[in-house]
Amino acid sequence: MSKLKTILSKDKLSRQDIIYLLSLENKSEIEELFTHANNLTKKVLGQNVYLRGLIEFSNICNRNCKYCGIRKSNSEVERYTMEMQEIQEAARWTYQQGFGSLVLQSGERSDPEFLKFVDNILQNVKELSNDRLGVTMSVGEQSLETYNRWYESGAHRYLLRVETTNADLYQKIHPSCHSLKERIEALDRIQKSGYQVGTGVMIGLPGQTIQDLADDIIFMEEKDIDMIGMGPYIPHINTPLNKTVKNFDAKKQLQLALKMIAVTRIYLPDVNIASTTAYGALSEKGKGQALQCGANVIMPNLTPRKYQENYKLYENKPAFLASYKRDFDKLKDEIKATGKTIGFNKWGDSPHYFKRTGESRNQFQA
Ligand code: 5AD
Repeated sequence: MSKLKTILSKDKLSRQDIIYLLSLENKSEIEELFTHANNLTKKVLGQNVYLRGLIEFSNICNRNCKYCGIRKSNSEVERYTMEMQEIQEAARWTYQQGFGSLVLQSGERSDPEFLKFVDNILQNVKELSNDRLGVTMSVGEQSLETYNRWYESGAHRYLLRVETTNADLYQKIHPSCHSLKERIEALDRIQKSGYQVGTGVMIGLPGQTIQDLADDIIFMEEKDIDMIGMGPYIPHINTPLNKTVKNFDAKKQLQLALKMIAVTRIYLPDVNIASTTAYGALSEKGKGQALQCGANVIMPNLTPRKYQENYKLYENKPAFLASYKRDFDKLKDEIKATGKTIGFNKWGDSPHYFKRTGESRNQFQA
């Protein structure tokens, strides 16, 4: 048996196995890895891909992450916050199309006005959907009190990417006032509040090694993470990290990021994994490829067109204009082409969460 087959037949991968799989370069072996991960996804999670309508409701951010296009110091960006009515419209559209869930994402703020605004969004979304739209938050590091407050207002999943679990690298890509320790403590607070916990990393950061990526995957197991949203790092011209990038190779970056999904799926079979926007930014086929090597969630962007130009975390971020039926029809075709079906009107929660907590599902969750 080939070394690859031997590894794929194991019940549990070792750190060395993870490194081996992430290092594969041979095309047919990579295909074998992807097919294995896709079959495992179908076996454990079924054929469904779940939709989360993404609303980037504000790009105002207090942070200065060195890779991010909406970092505080980027004065090229025009700052916006969507009107409540616009958010409600996007949420209503999502609900009517049978998406099942929303992701509410913005830059990071913790002032009382912002906390209250988010609270109001949650209450409105719940009201307009008769409590049926599931809501994932992606609003950064907050206090336990804030996490609790939003949970009580109806959010039940929270995404906070750890970005990288290598403390030195974390320090290099963030200003000195951020710390990996604080990031991890925030993840612990999210879990304590009762949310399904999502995290993830950027893949292919300058200075990041395959060993780092293997440790990232192991971290997600150790932290009992329920959902994973990760994606390739893509340089943004108005950021300090961009200056350290030499010879960016989009094809290689995408392949490494796809391998990361496949290996994570094999290591953590029962978590939700998203095919994130960055996969689509590197290639038109990227998001579909992610759905065929382990991802089971997709987050079409519902932010109105007039704001999307100012929510560029990285270059070439594709705009999904779900407000136009044509774009949604195209997405449906793309999902169909992957051999999967859409889990309409379902929350599509992470099975890992139910195992971890012993909670039972409600009628929208299956
Ligand atoms: N490339 C890829 N992903 C990025 N993010 C921010 N900037 C970039 C970039 N240049 C990701 C981070 C963040 C998420 C909202 O977007 O991982 O957590």
